[in-house]
Order: sequence, then C-alpha cells, then structure tokens
Amino acid sequence: MIEQLEQIEASALAALPAVSDSAGLEAWRVTHLGRSSPLMSVLGDLGKLPKEERPAIGQRGNQAKRALEEAYTAKAEALRQAEMEHALRAGALDVTLPGRPQRRGRLHPAVQGLREISAVFAEMGFQIYRSREVESDDYNFGLLNMPPHHPARDMWDTFYTTTPNVILRTHTSPGQIHAMRQFYPEPIRVILPGMCYRYEQITARSDIQFYQVEGLAVGRRITLSDLKGTLSDFARRMFGQTVRTRFRADHFPFTEPSAEMDVECFVCGGQGCAVCKQTGWLEILGCGMVHPTVLANGGYDPAVFSGFAFGMGPQRITMLKHRIEDIRYFFQDDMRFLEQF
Ligand code: DAH
Repeated sequence: MIEQLEQIEASALAALPAVSDSAGLEAWRVTHLGRSSPLMSVLGDLGKLPKEERPAIGQRGNQAKRALEEAYTAKAEALRQAEMEHALRAGALDVTLPGRPQRRGRLHPAVQGLREISAVFAEMGFQIYRSREVESDDYNFGLLNMPPHHPARDMWDTFYTTTPNVILRTHTSPGQIHAMRQFYPEPIRVILPGMCYRYEQITARSDIQFYQVEGLAVGRRITLSDLKGTLSDFARRMFGQTVRTRFRADHFPFTEPSAEMDVECFVCGGQGCAVCKQTGWLEILGCGMVHPTVLANGGYDPAVFSGFAFGMGPQRITMLKHRIEDIRYFFQDDMRFLEQF
C-alpha cells in the first residue's frame, strides 16, 4: 500500500513538467488531486483497512497529498509568471522605431492674407476694430450716405433676413459708423477686417461670402496726401519697397473725392502679363476722403474733423499673389488646395 502511494505521488509529479498552460494545469489537478483520483480513492478507503495499518498509510497518503498540492501551487505561480512575461514581450515597445509624424495645423490661406495685411497696418499704428456681420439696413447703407432707394445700393446685392431691416453686411464699411460712434471725439486709426456677404451669382471671380479689410482714419487736418501716403506705404510694405502705385478717380457714396488704387503688377514687375491682363497694373482697393455726411453720422463735426477710408478684398490679393484662378477654392475645404499654404 505504501509503495502504491509512492508510485501515485511519483507519477503525478512526473506528469507535471509537461503541463504548459493553466488549462493543462487544471486537468492535472482533476486527474491527480480530484475526487476520483487514485490518491483520493486510497484516502477515502482508509476506513476499510485493518485498524493497525491505518495510521501509517494515512500519514503517507496525507504526505503525498501535501506534496502534490505544493507542486500544484508552485506550478501555478510559474505559469502565471510565464504568461505575464509572454504578454509583456508581445506588447513590448520598440523604442528604436521612428515616431509617427505629427500633422501640424495651419492657418487658412484667407486668414493668412488677413493677418499679413493686419500686420502691416499694425506696424503703421492702426488698431484692429471688429464689427458685426449682421447689420441693419441703416448702417450698411443709410448712414453711409445711401438713403432708401438710392441707386448706388444696386452695387451691392444684399441678403435680407425675414426680420425687417436686418441684413448681412455687404461690405465692412458700416463698421466705420460703429467705430466713429464708439471713439468720438478721439482721433481714429483702425482697420476693420471681416466677412461680408452678397447675394450674387457664384463664379470664379465672385462668391457669396468673402473677406474685406476696411480702413478708417479720422482726425483734425487729415488730407488726401495722408490717404495717398498711407496707402502707398502699405503697398510698399506689402509688395516690396520698389513697387509703384497709382490712384484713379472713382465714385463711392461714402467718400468724396473717391479713388481706386492700383499697384504695379507684382507678377511681371509692370512689364505686362496674363495676371495684369497686359496692363502692368493690378487694382487693389477703393478709397477716398470720408464724406462729410458720413462723418456727421458718426458724430464728428465735418467742419472740424476730416478723414480717409479704404476697403480691399484680401482674398483677391492672395489670389493674385499665388495665381489662384478661382475664388471658390477658398471655402470648399478641399485639402489639396489648403495644404499648399
Ligand atoms: N465698401 C466698398 C465695397 O465694398 C469698398 C470701399 C471703397 C470702402 C471705398 C471704403 C472706401 O472705405 O473708401 O466695394
């Protein structure tokens, strides 16, 4: 009987090294320590043995049981370690692999253009003034010297809303009135960048929304020379120190006199090319001396104060600079376009 127990113990222990995972270990436990295992049968049948044999056999049986249980615990721990090491190795980081490149965001080309222009005017002492995109008819037209039914209103095809008198601004010029009413009686030197909206046929040259940068200077004894000097200097800072400018008479209801400024074509240097349509000049902005009625509407006495104003389309400048052929590219969110800037 003792020999049988020794054999049971030896064969159980001999089977253990072959166990390689926790499922195998559980099978081993059932086979060698389970209720119907040889060892448990021997221990269960102790009572059937003659009385004097029982202590020795029982003792040896329990010793075998303890040995198997200890072997089982040690094996379970070893398996756990092995499985953890395997998991660590499988998920290990290869620190020598090159990293994934971070894609950097960038500013939208229209915003880049706005910032370039703003930076130039900031250097020249202009503040940035933000004005609203939703306007009243009065601010967009009336206070800018275009009373109801004024024919000049036809220059701006307007988005009206279902609320009477509430429209989307067609230009940044209404910001002039807001700025004057806020700054009066201080002198003013501001630019007003922002989005404008027009109910227009969408084509390669015109979209229903686009940026403008408005400028306004109001003070005592501001003259047309200040206007020409400031805008020529802007052109030189923006397009290069040698660039020439010219002013052509024009008409806007809110300025008198009014002009348009051209800069020498920065693509061909004035020689004549496809971008400037062989003229050597590019039309950049509208400008003029603030109309006395507009000054008065802003709260400034036109007998004491004068001022100049201008308005430009920064996207048009960006288009000319980068030879972008279609204004619709700006707001189509096409990465192939945006990633070029
Ligand atoms: N508001 C005009 C437009 O949208 C542009 C403009 C012209 C603005 C002359 C001005 C200006 O301030 O003096 O076409």
